[in-house]
This record gives sequence, structure tokens and C-alpha cells, in this order.
Amino acid sequence: MNENGKTQRISETDVQRQLAICQEIKKRWEGRPGGPSLACVQTFGCQQNVADSQRIMGMLQEMGCGFTQDPYQADIILINTCAIRENAEKKVFGVVGQLVHVKEKNPDAVICLCGCMAQQEVVAERIRRSYRHVDLVFGPQALWKFPELLYGVLTGGGRAFSIASERGAIAEGLPVIRESGVKAWVSIMYGCNNFCSYCIVPYVRGRERSRKPADILSEVRGLVEEGFREITLLGQNVNSYGKDLEEPVDFAGLLREIDKIPGSYLIRFMTSHPKDAGEELFRAMTECPHVAKQLHLPVQSGSSRVLKAMNRGYTREQYLEKVRLARAAMPDLILTSDIIIGFPGETEEEAMETVSLIEEVRYDALFTFIYSPRPGTPAAKLPDPASRGEKQVWFDKLLDAQNRISAELHRAYVGQTVRVLIDGESGDAAWPLSSRTQGGRLVHLKGDTTLTGQYANVKITDSNTWALFGEIE
Ligand code: 5AD
Ligand code: SF4
Repeated sequence: MNENGKTQRISETDVQRQLAICQEIKKRWEGRPGGPSLACVQTFGCQQNVADSQRIMGMLQEMGCGFTQDPYQADIILINTCAIRENAEKKVFGVVGQLVHVKEKNPDAVICLCGCMAQQEVVAERIRRSYRHVDLVFGPQALWKFPELLYGVLTGGGRAFSIASERGAIAEGLPVIRESGVKAWVSIMYGCNNFCSYCIVPYVRGRERSRKPADILSEVRGLVEEGFREITLLGQNVNSYGKDLEEPVDFAGLLREIDKIPGSYLIRFMTSHPKDAGEELFRAMTECPHVAKQLHLPVQSGSSRVLKAMNRGYTREQYLEKVRLARAAMPDLILTSDIIIGFPGETEEEAMETVSLIEEVRYDALFTFIYSPRPGTPAAKLPDPASRGEKQVWFDKLLDAQNRISAELHRAYVGQTVRVLIDGESGDAAWPLSSRTQGGRLVHLKGDTTLTGQYANVKITDSNTWALFGEIE
């Protein structure tokens, strides 16, 4: 941010310089014995990380790299990390620890750690001291200058750590590799200003910064022209999109502009913060034919006392009123949510208020988590008297209730015909194709993978808690 609170941009010259460094690296690597360099990129965490990895892979491709899943084959290994819960961090430390064997076999391999864990001082320090085989550590705020950082390592600069906060930075024009020709992620903003008391994200991803509407529109237009069918707009809180921009535009306005792009495609978006989602958004969703009638509206807790302690900015009743308004505008709305069980000081009664809320709302699906203390967040300092065992019991009750609700809602589809987009393989031999309804429900189908990218009308013949099963009509 600059002094008047507006987001600053990385200049085009600075971005061009990074692309020029990619060419320098390409020259260094060209003509090496053993063919082109190979990169192994492993991604943990949310869709934002997936989108970030696609940018990193775009830059690696500019450097002339091919890709491999096998770190032992790779000349450069990049682990894009997640810090949202302790388990995610443990997994990453396990993977990074194993890479010491890769370095023993191939001392020239460059090992990089990036993403949300990398932005934390304590993690960087641990890597510096105890994981000496890691060459480069950089946080999400320094992603755009990955070529420069890598060049430093390759030209003998030694290990590099770039974890300073670059508040306000947004870079346009970085290359990208998308994994499929059907679905694409488009970040519309970065960072978060909400400081929910349990959450590490604002500390590692910095303050909210919005991309300019013109940049987003041209990216989406390009994707539609390339034939992408499903475009998901990403931000930690898409409903505060535009607040930091000079030009007056909000998220509903952005959706309306995107919707004008002609073509056969669907727009999804995540995540909506309930305190900022409202009738203007619901109206735009209703009126824009390209926008999926699907809302991910994390409630986190059904207890107003816990919501206050979480610093969420709404009560149970206010949340339920938002759901009522959204459903009044879109009777077929597919609604999903995130829940945290076992926030410090939560009682059994309060956890059961969350169960009663999900019974009342009847979400199509839920992402459920047991609270994990994140050092540096306010909640991590609160007394937390409930045991892990007690929290597990509450958590299981929540899961049982949601599994029953999901199964009931799915069963109601049996016998209906729904329109789906076929998006790839399901991994299930009996129902090999995977597809999604407009609202994002997973449908497994019979048929061959050449149908990927096509729309189909499907008769639903069976269902379970997690998916629908059907036959193309
Ligand atoms: N412990 C457990 N779950 C968390 N989430 C965020 N921080 C924590 C934490 N410390 C969950 C929230 C959020 C989702 C992405 O992860 O439910 O919406
Ligand atoms: Fe974390 Fe809250 Fe921001 Fe979501 S809105 S990223 S939960 S601080």
C-alpha cells in the first residue's frame, strides 16, 4: 500500500526484468549434458497455492524447464507450502526432510521452499538451522521475483531467504501453466484484512490488494477464447474486492462486467465472507447467466459467543439471515461452508450450537476442521481447557450430521436429469469420468476421457454422501 491506502503495482519494467532473467537462466542450462532441466513442483494447501504454483511453473517453463513428479529426476525442486494448520506444516517438514537424500544423490539440485510457511520468520529460521539442504526460501509476497532469487543461488550467491513483507505488491504479466484446458483459477485479489483470531493468513499473505478490473477481464476473456469452460475467481474474501482501488468497483460490479464476455463458460468464486456478502451480490449472481448459483459461505461456528471470540463480525442470527436472503434470491443455490470445532474456550453446548446450525441450514457440503493453534495469532494465547478427545467427539457428531444431510440431499437427485461439464477422470474404474453440475456437485459417469471439456445431460441413477452417479442421455 502507499500512504493513501491504495495498492501499488510492481512496474512492468520490473516484471520484464524477471522474464529477462528467465532467459539468462535458460542460456545457462541449455546445452548441459543430460538434456533439458527438469523441475518438480509439489503444492500443499488451498486453491490460491495451486494458482501460485501455476505461475511458478510458468516461470520455470520460460527458463526452459520440463516437469517431473519425481524429485530424484529433478534439477530444481520446489515445495509450495501451507501454514493454515499444524498438520499441514508437519507434512511439509516431513517432505522437506526427505529431500536431504535427493541432495546427497544430486548435490547440484536446487531445493526451494515457498508459500505461506516460508513467509514465517520461525519457519525460515528452522530451515536455516536444521534443513541445510534447502537453498532458497521465499514467501508468497516475493513470488514475482522468483527468477531473480533463483539466479542468485545458481550464480554462487549461496542460500537465499526472501521473507520480508512486500505489502501492496501486485505483479501482472507473469507467465502461467494451467493444468487442464477446462478449468482455470484466476486470482482477483491477494491477502486478507480480517484477522479472524485463529487465522495465520493475514500475517503471511499480507493486506488485501485487488487486481485492476481491466487486468482480470482481459485474463478471463483470454481463457474463454482459449476454450476454458470453468473459471474460478480467487480471493481470501472476494466480497471486499476493489476497496483498495482508485476506481470505484466492487465484487458484484466485477461479476457483472465478466458476465458480459460472450461464450460458453461458467464463473465460480471463493471465498465469500458472510459479513461482506449481501443482497447486491445475490442480485448480481441471479442476474448473471454465466455465474454459478453456488456460494461458499464459511460460518466457522454456530455460537454467537464463539463467533465474537473469533472476530468474525456477525452473529448466528445475522448469518442465518444472509442465508435466507441468498436462498430467497436463488432457490436452487448450492451452499457450502467451513467449520472449526474446538476453538479455545468452546464448550460442548457451543459446539452443539454449530451442529444445530448445520441442521438448520442443510449445507450441500462442509469443510470441517479441528482448531489448530497458530503461533502469533490472538487465539493461540487463549486458555483452551477442552481436551483433544472431547473435541474429537464433538467433531464426529458434526460429521455424522453433515454426512447424513449430504446423503439426503444427494439422494433427492436420483431420477433427475442434470447438465454437467465433464472435467476429467474420476479414478473410479466403474464410473471413469468426473463431472460437475452448475452448482459444483460431483457426478461420476460412464464414458471415455475424450469427452473431457464437453457438456452433457446426465440421468442420475445413484448417489452417496460424496457424489452422484449417472449416465449420459
Ligand atoms: N485451525 C483450524 N482451522 C482453521 N482454518 C483457518 N485457520 C484455522 C486454524 N487455526 C480453517 C477455516 C478457514 C479454512 C480455510 O481453514 O475454517 O475457513
Ligand atoms: Fe483467515 Fe478470516 Fe481472512 Fe479467511 S477471512 S483468510 S479465515 S483471517
